[in-house]
Amino acid sequence: MTRLQARELIRAAAQARRRAVAPYSKFQVGAALLCRGGEIVPGANVESASYGLTCCAERVALFRALTSGHHEFLAIAVVARADQGPMPCGACRQLLAEYAPDALVWVADSAALRAVREFRVSELLPAPFVTVPSPAPAR
Ligand code: THU
Repeated sequence: MTRLQARELIRAAAQARRRAVAPYSKFQVGAALLCRGGEIVPGANVESASYGLTCCAERVALFRALTSGHHEFLAIAVVARADQGPMPCGACRQLLAEYAPDALVWVADSAALRAVREFRVSELLPAPFVTVPSPAPAR
């Protein structure tokens, strides 16, 4: 993964952020996934009047990518107006651990897009729950 790819993916996340639907928090987040084949899939957060139904930018991008037929991911970029960039929430870390375990996570403040911080999904969520054990026979 090159610095240029990180820059491009961050730019895609910053663009996606403009489509955020965040009338309650006003915290607009954009994300962009880099698929194995080079495709870039964007997403932004969508909020609900029933606040708990809100979906983060990362999951919108991930669900969009998966349901478009992409299953291997190299990186995800996340951009919002937050010092040092927005860190993915626990729910998004779980989904990333399941569907993009090897991806790099690049985060940046929308006001400082060149300062990109890099993480691995495995460091954001160590020891993840990723398979449902088959039920043990009743005893
Ligand atoms: N949010 C994201 O979209 N991604 C994150 O990484 C952090 C939080 C959204 C959810 C909600 O719409 C708003 O930010 C405030 O929590």
